Amino acid sequence: MMGLPYNLGRFSKFGRALKARKRVLSRIDGLIDDAIERKKKKSPSSDVDVDVGSKKKSRNAIDLLLSAVDPETGEMATRDELKDQILTQMFAGHETTGTTICRLLKELSSPSRAGVLGRLRGEQASCVERFGPALTPESMRHMPYTDAVINETLRAWPIVHGVFRSALKDLAVESVDKETGESTFYRVPEGWRLQLVISSTTRESAGAAASSLSGVEETAGGASSSPSSASSKSKSDFDPSRWLSSATSPASAPSGLYAPFGLGPHVCLGMSLAVQELRACLALMVRGFEWEVVDEKEAWVPPKLPERGLEVLFWKKEEGEAGKQRAIAAAQAKGWIE
Ligand code: HEM
Repeated sequence: MMGLPYNLGRFSKFGRALKARKRVLSRIDGLIDDAIERKKKKSPSSDVDVDVGSKKKSRNAIDLLLSAVDPETGEMATRDELKDQILTQMFAGHETTGTTICRLLKELSSPSRAGVLGRLRGEQASCVERFGPALTPESMRHMPYTDAVINETLRAWPIVHGVFRSALKDLAVESVDKETGESTFYRVPEGWRLQLVISSTTRESAGAAASSLSGVEETAGGASSSPSSASSKSKSDFDPSRWLSSATSPASAPSGLYAPFGLGPHVCLGMSLAVQELRACLALMVRGFEWEVVDEKEAWVPPKLPERGLEVLFWKKEEGEAGKQRAIAAAQAKGWIE
């Protein structure tokens, strides 16, 4: 995953990464040219720069970026900015969100999550009743259990392992022994590089929240488990209901423990976009579809991607068993299932 930051051409990971970046950027250049051509064909008289405020629907992310205007300056992105944006979407935005969706699909396909899925479907049905079938900013603000499932997935399966920081001044980091309550201080000199292992702290946050929970009765009811005490809400339980009370939520754990999107001034730039994407995707999946993960034993490799992609069969909810048979037959025809 990681390599030393020395450019030794093909002999170092860093050198190979820089070369690969160049190739990717040149491919992106081509995609931008194609998008500009497409745009010109649609309205030959309009140059990219003058198509500001066009009401026409753009077809894909690059088309959208080409039409985007900075609301403060009225300027459009330069080619270099476009390339940076596309790279960010591809590497910071695509796999992180995609892998989280894989995790959601896998978690919810397990028979032991039938309660969670049932409750999700119930919430989405009420949402459609209240706001109509379209996903709007308003309706998406009223999906607390859907949000809880997303939060719990990010807690149980944080995609990013850790982030690096530099100590700007000498620090004393306190470590408290859980058993004895004894403090030990570690000195971190100015300039040292630190890694915050967010995959551990984020999982741990459940324990931290739970310990402040002692004796609080579960009020939300009906989720995957129905814990009646803090001890049953262990960090290894997949339990979205822990998010439904601010007193028990991992977000109320000591600052910085729950950080699937990082923290501080460099917190994930795409956090809101990612959360909206996950909400929309989960809502549409549970409203309209059933699914089954094909290979339950799929190996997950760093950074926790399914090694060969996650094969999932989808069918429309209203088609029931017949839809499932059709999905299996289609998958067999494609050679997915032996
Ligand atoms: C589930 C989805 C995602 C997760 C879990 C995630 C997680 C993270 C984490 C942990 C960091 C490091 C933050 C830190 O250093 O404190 C980060 C940084 C970043 N993310 Fe995301 N991310 C996701 C989606 C996205 C999306 C959709 C985009 C953009 C389209 C994006 C763009 C970025 C950028 C640009 C940074 C660097 C921010 C900076 O250093 O100032 N991420 N992300």
